[in-house]
Amino acid sequence: MSTPFLSVRDLRVHFSTEDGLVKAVDGLSFDVEKGKTLGIVGESGSGKSVTNLSILGLHNRERTTMDGEIILDGQELLTASERTLEKLRGNKMSMIFQDALASLSPYHTVGVQIAETYRKHTGASKREARARAVEMLRRVGIPQPDVRVDEYPHQFSGGMRQRAMIAMALVCDPELLIADEPTTALDVTVQAQIMDLLKDLQQEFGTAIIFITHDLGVIADIADDVLVMYGGRCVERGTKKEVLRSPDHPYTLGLMNSMPTLNGSVDVPLTPIPGSPPSLLNPPSGCRFHPRCAFAEKVSGGLCSSDRPTLEVVEGRGSACHLTQEQKQDLFADFAATRHN
Ligand SMILES: Nc1ncnc2c1ncn2[C@@H]1O[C@H](COP(=O)(O)OP(=O)(O)O)[C@@H](O)[C@H]1O
Ligand code: SF4
Ligand SMILES: [Mg+2]
Repeated sequence: MSTPFLSVRDLRVHFSTEDGLVKAVDGLSFDVEKGKTLGIVGESGSGKSVTNLSILGLHNRERTTMDGEIILDGQELLTASERTLEKLRGNKMSMIFQDALASLSPYHTVGVQIAETYRKHTGASKREARARAVEMLRRVGIPQPDVRVDEYPHQFSGGMRQRAMIAMALVCDPELLIADEPTTALDVTVQAQIMDLLKDLQQEFGTAIIFITHDLGVIADIADDVLVMYGGRCVERGTKKEVLRSPDHPYTLGLMNSMPTLNGSVDVPLTPIPGSPPSLLNPPSGCRFHPRCAFAEKVSGGLCSSDRPTLEVVEGRGSACHLTQEQKQDLFADFAATRHN
């Protein structure tokens, strides 16, 4: 078996806070291959961003305990020095954030910011770097890039700023791109354009992408594989087709029922998941989803609130739930009948 390009094993990320220990990520494993997109989906607070900031090495080490393994192209990142990580960031791996305005400096032109990132990693001359910035702006679909290169972020629209951030993230041809809800703040049309752009760039350069979102519709559009997170843990994973066509965990089912049908053709009423995501300061015992799960009482012996269900993964497919396959077939059947995808 070949080694995956990115391999995360049993990742744990705990923060010491004044209120106690926040177990933001609690035993997470996944792989991402070159040229493929892993979609990570889950409600707000499930540990998606924390996971990915760990890969980039962006946590404050004094207040954060990290365990497990993160191996990128043969290199262990969790134990790597700040200097090594600094070198890898922007070059080998880079990230697009939700809020472009917060990630771009208001004091420098968009062009200078892109050019400086390029210079830092390649040692190119100012002239070369500027030419590269213009080329990147053109590639991400910014009109008149040779003029816009000298403008400041506030002169760009939201969609254009997001493109500029993508240009900056891609200027050194990173092999791993992490996109953290990059389209959440954008209108649907721009959102679709940005996703097409990422797909084109991936095809061209074979980039491995981790795409984080709370929206299964976005996953349906962009992902090859899917990891569903709840309360700092993976509750279900598989290929996009497996997860979206035959969800195997009550939480995934809940997410699907709470958003407009993915194929857009059936009139199924939306049912939000009751309650709210758990606090990771004091998470529920057993299955972290049990206080909100409609099926918990179907499992005998109160197992859902006492025992953590294990995640058994066979060939990349698995889910963590105490229900038997027969029970799931019965209980999930109503759902399947109403959706024709
Ligand atoms: N630096 C930090 N210190 C303490 N708690 C944090 C820190 N960063 C994130 N958290 C907590 O970790 C949990 C997961 O956060 P996050 O990964 O940002 O969720 P999301 O899935 O919405 O991206 C949340 O409960 C959040 O409050
Ligand atoms: S283990 Fe129990 S509470 Fe958790 S998802 Fe399965 S049925 Fe629901
Ligand atoms: Mg987040």
